[in-house]
Amino acid sequence: MYRLAPSLLSADFSRLGEEVENVIASGADWIHFDVMDNHYVPNLTFGPLVCKAIRPLTKAPIDVHLMVKPVDRIISGFIEAGADFISFHPEASEHIDRSLALIRDGGAKAGLALNPATPLHVLDHVMERLDFVLLMSVNPGFGGQTFIPGTLAKLTAARARLDAWGQKSGRRLLLEVDGGVKADNIADIARAGADTFVAGSAVFGAGHDSDPHRYDTIIARLRAELATVNT
Ligand code: DX5
Ligand code: ZN
Repeated sequence: MYRLAPSLLSADFSRLGEEVENVIASGADWIHFDVMDNHYVPNLTFGPLVCKAIRPLTKAPIDVHLMVKPVDRIISGFIEAGADFISFHPEASEHIDRSLALIRDGGAKAGLALNPATPLHVLDHVMERLDFVLLMSVNPGFGGQTFIPGTLAKLTAARARLDAWGQKSGRRLLLEVDGGVKADNIADIARAGADTFVAGSAVFGAGHDSDPHRYDTIIARLRAELATVNT
C-alpha cells in the first residue's frame, strides 16, 4: 500500500554499498537516487556509473530522480545501469513527451517531478505516458530542508487527478512525495494522498546510537505512523 524510499543523498558516501544493503535490510522498499548536475540545481551528486555499482547489491527498485538539464542524453545511461523508476523535471526537458517515451522504451517506469511552484496542469497531456508523479515538497537541490505545508493541498489535488485518470484508463499511477518527510508529518502526508515517500535525512540521520548505520527503528516508526492512516 505504502512505499518508503530512503534517499541516498543523506547516506554515508564513503560506504555507499553498505548503506544500500543496510537500509533495505532495515525494511525500506525502494532506493531513491538523487541525480544533481550543478546546472539545473546548485548541487552535484552521482550518475549512471554509481547506479550501476549499487545495482547488484539489492533487488529493491532503484528510483532515479533526475535533477539535470538536458534530460534525454542521460536517460539511456540509467536504463543501462538498471534503474527501475526514472523521473525528471518538466522544466529541464525541451520535449516532455519524448523524454517520457525514452524512459518507457528502455523498460523503466516513467515519472514527472514537479517543483513546489510547478502547476499540476503540466500533467494534462501526458497522463498516458506516466507511471508515477513525484511532488517535490521542498525546492530541489539539498537534503534536510523543511516540508512546505502547501504541498498537502497540492497532493490532494494530484490524488484527485490520478484517481479520475484511474477511473477512465484503468491504470493506477503512484503519487510520490519528496522533501522534508519525517515521522511527525508522514501520516498527514499520506492522508493528503501520497502513497510513496522519499525520506533522506529522516532515515539516514537516525541510525542507532550503538550502530549509526542501522535504520530499522526509524523505518518501523515511519511504518507505524502510516498504519494510523485510515484509507
Ligand atoms: C532534494 C532531493 C530529495 C532529498 C530529500 O532535492 O530530491 O530526495 O534527498 O531529503 P530530505 O528527506 O532530507 O528532505
Ligand atoms: Zn529526490
